[in-house]
Amino acid sequence: MLTLRGQQALQKADLVVGFKTVLDVVTPWLGNAEVRPMAYRDQEEVLEYAGQQAALGKDCVVCCWGDLNVSARELLLRVKRRVDRIELIPGISSVQMACARAGISLEDVVFITLHQRKEPVSDMLELVHYLNENKRHVILLPRPFDLMPATIASRLVDEGIPGSRPLTIYQRLSLEGEAEWQGSLEECAALSQEFSDLTILVFPVPELHAGREADAQGVI
Ligand SMILES: C[S@@+](CC[C@H](N)C(=O)[O-])C[C@H]1O[C@@H](n2cnc3c(N)ncnc32)[C@H](O)[C@@H]1O
Repeated sequence: MLTLRGQQALQKADLVVGFKTVLDVVTPWLGNAEVRPMAYRDQEEVLEYAGQQAALGKDCVVCCWGDLNVSARELLLRVKRRVDRIELIPGISSVQMACARAGISLEDVVFITLHQRKEPVSDMLELVHYLNENKRHVILLPRPFDLMPATIASRLVDEGIPGSRPLTIYQRLSLEGEAEWQGSLEECAALSQEFSDLTILVFPVPELHAGREADAQGVI
């Protein structure tokens, strides 16, 4: 799901950096760029190097998964701290992919990410709030690997969300090894399988779906 604009940027880049798993996906689209994979522990050094190269007039690309406006703020801030001029090239988010797979519209969705460094206490509270409200589908990013589907599901059941509540879990959307799991919160809480770090959860509101379809038929 790499965009054409993203491909062009990679093709003409002098330097391409990003987490190794991201770079593995974009490698086929590189021209003659130097490639510098990074990990959480050395990202500051790699981005520092990219900043120096940019100051020398080199064309540097920092890659992230999906779209840079979705749960990528930390990386973006690290880049912005180091360069004066930055072009933000939007991508296709896992959130959009999940909407497409689940057949739901973004305007009917509340999006919450637990994928952050600080303890996502208020985000868990919001998650419980929106699930109880039951007006919009909820799309949720877990936190690899301490807040993954089974832990989240059992916490939600503890918070009083009915165990029969349906959810869908997508892994590695649009990538090799893509997988989908469907079941109830209770079944999810009992799962012992490992999930990929590329995992996204959808809590649909089935009535909303039916209502929207009826509205659309009314319009036609
Ligand atoms: C730091 S966030 C970045 C999100 C990204 N900017 C986006 O637009 O999807 C990383 C999280 O996004 C989700 N994610 C990213 N790509 C995914 C994919 N292909 N399939 C499922 N989830 C994905 C996972 O929850 C992953 O842990």
